[in-house]
Amino acid sequence: MSVTVFNPRLDDATDEATSSAALNNLSVEQAPVHRAANKKVFITTQGCQMNVYDSDKMLDVLGDSHGMEVTHNIDDADVLLMNTCSIREKAQEKVFSELGRWRKLKEKRPDLVIGVGGCVASQEGDNIQKRAPYVDMIFGPQTLHRLPELYDQSNEQRDIAPKNRIGTIDVSFPSIEKFDFLPEPRVEGYKAFVSIMEGCSKYCSFCVVPYTRGEELSRPLDDVLAEIDSLAEQGVREINLLGQNVNGYRGQKDDGSICRFAELLHYVSHIDGVERIRYTTSHPLEFTDDIIDAYAKLPELVSHLHLPVQSGSNAILAAMKRNHTIDVYIDQINKLKAVRPDIHLSSDFIIGFPGETDADFQDTLNLAKALNFDHSYSFIYSKRPGTPASELPDDVSFATKKARLAEFQQVIIDSTLQKTHEMVGTTTRVLVEQVADRHPEYLLGTADNTRTVMFPFEEAQKDELLGKIVNVHITEFVSPHMVKGELVEVLA
Ligand code: SAH
Ligand code: F3S
Repeated sequence: MSVTVFNPRLDDATDEATSSAALNNLSVEQAPVHRAANKKVFITTQGCQMNVYDSDKMLDVLGDSHGMEVTHNIDDADVLLMNTCSIREKAQEKVFSELGRWRKLKEKRPDLVIGVGGCVASQEGDNIQKRAPYVDMIFGPQTLHRLPELYDQSNEQRDIAPKNRIGTIDVSFPSIEKFDFLPEPRVEGYKAFVSIMEGCSKYCSFCVVPYTRGEELSRPLDDVLAEIDSLAEQGVREINLLGQNVNGYRGQKDDGSICRFAELLHYVSHIDGVERIRYTTSHPLEFTDDIIDAYAKLPELVSHLHLPVQSGSNAILAAMKRNHTIDVYIDQINKLKAVRPDIHLSSDFIIGFPGETDADFQDTLNLAKALNFDHSYSFIYSKRPGTPASELPDDVSFATKKARLAEFQQVIIDSTLQKTHEMVGTTTRVLVEQVADRHPEYLLGTADNTRTVMFPFEEAQKDELLGKIVNVHITEFVSPHMVKGELVEVLA
């Protein structure tokens, strides 16, 4: 999936951005020059939520340091940024085809500055320079905060071919320093993502993330809590804790001791204004009893868990180096259901892993049918260079993989539909977010299980309801991801 991220916050925050640039030790002479230039940046984002978060931060640092504004229109832009994903081959190939189009723009407008960030840049920095020598800046997920410097370097060395420039490529992993250089989060709406850790040390045999984002590194507890405090003060009610493997969180506390993920959940739930907590993504291996206990104790934790299982076959799980069995996964779900009977589940699946037999695939189908996920993401296995699985013999034909994926996705679609239909007649918690664009007599919000909920309201109630957690009695199925209902009560 490829999305273009537009960050309207920067559009109306130029003044604020310029003044905080001064606070960030830029000389006073510098800021007006940048403001006068009023450069515009266009960004495309591929891949996961982490990348969406990172794109936001790229816009923030350029807004803060250079007063840059965001544009939707590529023809209007002075800077083009591509935040890339290398989780599957298809995503990676898209990078080069898109860059081909950007090259034509740069031929017409040589002043255009092109930057490539994200996981493809991290893994393929040299290759990008060879295949796309017109790219000015190359940076990884861990060095996006250095974007202003890379931009200045590219500008200063404008007359030198990009491959001969100095200081315009940085795909290093400078520990967790990135967060120390990011501007204060600014907010629109009632939901926000907060990155609590970077990287992954699980080394699943198919996955490129540990190589592109580095090993797990947790942000110190106080930094995470201060960021959430500030977001809550700006009106955020729902926090989504972000990381490739959040239950590996090991944040340093002030006294030098270590805070684990379950404890972090307790701290976050105590922050005034935080009414709902989600997290993305966790791993079954560290889905420990203290996390299950948090579901028993913390009503702020949503009744929805995205816990990727990848396959329903023990043999495939072993080959994937997931380090747990299906029984362990089912056990965890059962324990969770004991404390949260209304829990909604979702998962990721990889279909057609090397050596996947018909029987293995049947196990995956059976698991999906048995657990009846609220929704799931499923992909055909994609061989990633440098990962252990890429060395495995793969005797499953692509046609078979495609047929299995189609069969599997039908099961997933059916259970998504069933789950949405099952909401009718129940009462569900909703965070009220906005007036419906096309039906202004309705308010829209999100239920715990991520379905959009619409309900009618009186104009006089609007300000009282926006940003509140309310109970809605569901009366009607609208679409697989949307239901309609009647307001019951305001909860918080
Ligand atoms: N931290 C998560 C996964 C993050 S990657 C976890 O614990 O599993 C997001 C998803 O991309 C994975 O869950 C997996 O389903 C998919 N994925 C990763 N590498 C892949 C590959 N080589 N081929 C196909 N899908 C892949
Ligand atoms: Fe990838 Fe496994 Fe980590 S899927 S992100 S290596 S948990």
